[in-house]
Amino acid sequence: MVNNNLNSVGFLDVPVPEGIDLIQAIQDLKKEKNAIILAHYYQENDIQDIADYVGDSLALAQWAAKTDADVIVLCGVHFMGETAKILSPDKQVLVPDLNAGCSLADSCPADEFEKFIKEHPAHKVISYVNTTAAVKTLTDVVVTSTNARQIVDSFPHDEKIIFGPDRNLGNYINSLTGRNMALWDGACHVHERFSLEKILELKKQYSDALVLAHPECKSAILKIADYVGSTSALLNYAGKSNNKTFIVATESGILYEMQEKNKDKIFIPAPPNDSTCACNECNFMKLNTLKKLYNCLKYGQPEIFISEEIREKAKKPILKMLEISAKLGL
Ligand code: 13P
Ligand code: SF4
Repeated sequence: MVNNNLNSVGFLDVPVPEGIDLIQAIQDLKKEKNAIILAHYYQENDIQDIADYVGDSLALAQWAAKTDADVIVLCGVHFMGETAKILSPDKQVLVPDLNAGCSLADSCPADEFEKFIKEHPAHKVISYVNTTAAVKTLTDVVVTSTNARQIVDSFPHDEKIIFGPDRNLGNYINSLTGRNMALWDGACHVHERFSLEKILELKKQYSDALVLAHPECKSAILKIADYVGSTSALLNYAGKSNNKTFIVATESGILYEMQEKNKDKIFIPAPPNDSTCACNECNFMKLNTLKKLYNCLKYGQPEIFISEEIREKAKKPILKMLEISAKLGL
């Protein structure tokens, strides 16, 4: 049944039946529709709990490419839903709230990126997965924070490369590899806001704490971090480390899984510059709620659509990433 209340605000704004057990109702709908729920680590805890799989952006793409479900509900942000649809065009791909955008993807409009590419002739184009499908059509190979370093390394050292849109991740890879990739000047509003001073103060307070940072953080924070990696890499590192206390510089949703998997360890969210806001939360990721998830499964909306022309072009650099990642065992 299609509900016409999918209004301009981008999600189904209809009440859920009174007294309903939302968790049970979502489980029932999932079975009825042969649906799979994929969630990013930055989702609200209750969504992580009900998801079939919780993972980083690479894992979400890998699961979306191989699932035999008829419906994929991508509890993450819009580009993650687009990536799933590009890889699984015959499936219905739903995102509970289409307003779940990404400031990093928004910092790289396709027409301006195309100009940048023209200004750098004979460069290969490597784009972070946090981009629109239109930007991916301009790209030779897509990367995520899990495989970016290895994929850059797979190019000859003298290859000229454009890397976009995250300047912090690009700078970090340049510093690790000694390359001089031309960087698009984009950033994520969450990762840019962590306060170096406050992290250093916390380190004084918890002298044995290790700092874990996502490579989207500014270089000053990456320099003092004990470990830098994607969300899943940070999670693995925290699990394997003998250390007990960690200061975590990435979106605070990851702390839920970290704490669940490591009950005896202490995880402290890295503080943002502005102590009056919850700026270490991604407001886009947090737009998805259980209620919106229920409505989107029930009514099959909002759905991701991509023109076949864009999908075909955007698919190539994503498949290339998946191929290289598979070879690397990622
Ligand atoms: P991951 O690749 O670690 O999942 O990160 C995605 C993201 O949006 C980070 O802000
Ligand atoms: Fe985008 Fe930043 Fe949110 Fe990740 S945390 S989805 S990069 S806005």
